[in-house]
Amino acid sequence: MRGALVALPTETVYGLAGRADDPTVLRRIFKAKNRPAHNPLILHCADLDQVASVAELTPAARQLAGSFWPGPLTMLLTRRESVLDEACAGLPRVAVRIPASEQFRAIIRAVGVPLAAPSANPSGYVSPTRAEHVFAGLGCRVDHILDGGPCERGLESTIVGWDEAGRGEIYRLGAISAEVLEALTNTPWPLHQQDEQHPSTPGALLQHYAPRTPVTFELPAPQDAWVTWSERASTWKGEVGVLHLPISTIGDLEEAARNLYHALIELDSAGVTRICVESFPDEGLGATLNERVARASAAQISAA
Ligand code: TXA
Ligand code: MG
Repeated sequence: MRGALVALPTETVYGLAGRADDPTVLRRIFKAKNRPAHNPLILHCADLDQVASVAELTPAARQLAGSFWPGPLTMLLTRRESVLDEACAGLPRVAVRIPASEQFRAIIRAVGVPLAAPSANPSGYVSPTRAEHVFAGLGCRVDHILDGGPCERGLESTIVGWDEAGRGEIYRLGAISAEVLEALTNTPWPLHQQDEQHPSTPGALLQHYAPRTPVTFELPAPQDAWVTWSERASTWKGEVGVLHLPISTIGDLEEAARNLYHALIELDSAGVTRICVESFPDEGLGATLNERVARASAAQISAA
């Protein structure tokens, strides 16, 4: 895979993968996504030894690794000198994770170096959870698309890091909830407060994950789409002229997470005026889902 850009499924979303040790490949990734160079990439590793070759694994990081890797957790760790500036945008830390997909890890092992892989969408758009989303968004800018069917989680990994005092913080809500992290470590995992001028996670600024169609938590009017997840709303008969799309019919938040991005992408070409989403309970995965929908709706406000 020298020089190649390969889109492939992870348990979270599809990634656009290339060798992390090749600056030309890294520049191609940024170009294909139209991603600003100051927004760094996650390095995907096959095992802990490979993580240790690019980052300093602290005891706290090892504890989380033991519980969550392989899986949808990304850690911000002090980078080793060998990590290219292009991968971490010159920041002192590198983002790393070991993905759950056996196939992805086998590919990393075969290549022999970590693979940098942002979500395989044009910068600012919704992350792809199916191969067809990648093709629609990036098409020929990618050398290969590996179709592994829909992603199991449907939401990006949770990003965590530690402040100077060693306190853990969440930099991006994701597929692993704060509650699960807290239960495991017996310590709080507050959300890191981003400085909008100098964000420590540049991709976590508001205008992200948005379809072109306006997204809102408001109730639908005719010509809108209504995306619901609760048992009660799934039987909603509603107003005439509203396109109703349940992403779960049994109030299952994991199922809703798996389907949310697919629903947003499908509805984006359905000719509706707005995509209205039933709000989620603000805890567990519901907090991540609310945050993604809020970002999508803020993107339109800031673009207006
Ligand atoms: O689930 C996921 O994490 C997916 C799959 C493909 O692994 N990847 C993903 O990558 O969502 P991306 O590039 O779309 O989002 C990575 C986020 C961005 O917000 C970026 O700013 C942040 O991680 N990030 C990456 N490297 C960083 C670093 N060295 N320091 C701070 N933030 C970093
Ligand atoms: Mg992304």
